[in-house]
Amino acid sequence: MTQTTRRVELSAPWIDERDEELVLETLRSGRLSLGPVGPRFEAALCEATGAQHAAAVSSGTAGLHLSMRLAHVQPGDEVVTSPYSFAASANCAIYEGATPVFAEIDPRTFNLHPDAVEAVITDRTRAVVAVDIFGYPCELDPLLAVCERHGLRLVEDACEALGARYRGQPIGSHGHPAVFAFYPNKQMTTGEGGAVMTNDAREHELLVSLRNQGRLETSSWLVHGRLGYNYRLDDISAALGLGQLEKLDAILDARRSVASRYAELLADVEVELPLADDADHERSWFVYVVKLPSGVDRDAVIGRLSDRGVSAAPYLPSIHLQPYMRERYGFREGMLPVSEDCSRRTLALPFHARLDPDDQEYVVEALRAVFA
Ligand SMILES: Cc1ncc(COP(=O)(O)O)c(C=O)c1O
Repeated sequence: MTQTTRRVELSAPWIDERDEELVLETLRSGRLSLGPVGPRFEAALCEATGAQHAAAVSSGTAGLHLSMRLAHVQPGDEVVTSPYSFAASANCAIYEGATPVFAEIDPRTFNLHPDAVEAVITDRTRAVVAVDIFGYPCELDPLLAVCERHGLRLVEDACEALGARYRGQPIGSHGHPAVFAFYPNKQMTTGEGGAVMTNDAREHELLVSLRNQGRLETSSWLVHGRLGYNYRLDDISAALGLGQLEKLDAILDARRSVASRYAELLADVEVELPLADDADHERSWFVYVVKLPSGVDRDAVIGRLSDRGVSAAPYLPSIHLQPYMRERYGFREGMLPVSEDCSRRTLALPFHARLDPDDQEYVVEALRAVFA
């Protein structure tokens, strides 16, 4: 076993003095929630994405849950989503008493295949949650066409895709509800947090009420017009978000450079690299995930990288094979072979905006040594 003191972490947020200044200013203002910073953050998000409305919420999961309410998902309904995603893409349907139905993905993009979505639609299907996995935009137009043909709502799980573009238009601005997430491994962070973007003023009004315990715009603090939640984003988190948005372009550019450097360094390593952009899809770099050749023992690779101080993760497991999913719905291996094969072979390497080029070389050298 190789012993090392060098450590290369999987991810790291980019926090600077401007973020500290904005957070401190909010702390000193004494207005820590429902103050003026939340709306400023929402306006900045709209400006960054071109969306008409943004409702900041306490997490991406909270945003997905509220989007199920926008889509009128009810007990007994089915919601189609991707198995190759984070559990929240499916959990949001379960929260409303609906059943998640998984459709197969395209192994090149790791995103939902529109034909596979159409194939699993039944008369109980209410909505589709399409995920922009790893920041690569999903097939929005074909998916919207499927939804239109069958009278379904499309909700976009854009939790990993702030800054991406589909057919030239920023993710979040296409009109249907799109949810961003701001956990510290994301492109930008608010600590915990998220936002639901929409171009529909009535949907936005409903989001604002639902996240705030169902209060109505006209009602006082202890009057609740509907069943709501406490999914508010506090002003301290929103202040951090403002600082992050001020440098979003720099963050996205830096992440893109780190990804290009990996592509160069990994050119002669026997792994499949992330799909390059094309005219319709511009990725916002969230993670750097490579696909190992079939039959390689990924756990052993992760262990050997860890011996060399390099953090790597098996990213992502298929949702339908999570223990609670198997137990609840009887899902089994073999149900979604494409997603399952990707889940067995994909590996996330250390990736963030300020990853040192020397560290990147070290990561790739370590990978080479492990393969040798
Ligand atoms: C694809 C996807 N969906 C949903 C979420 C949930 O976001 P959060 O962790 O903010 O609840 C995440 C974040 O990890 C995600 O990557």
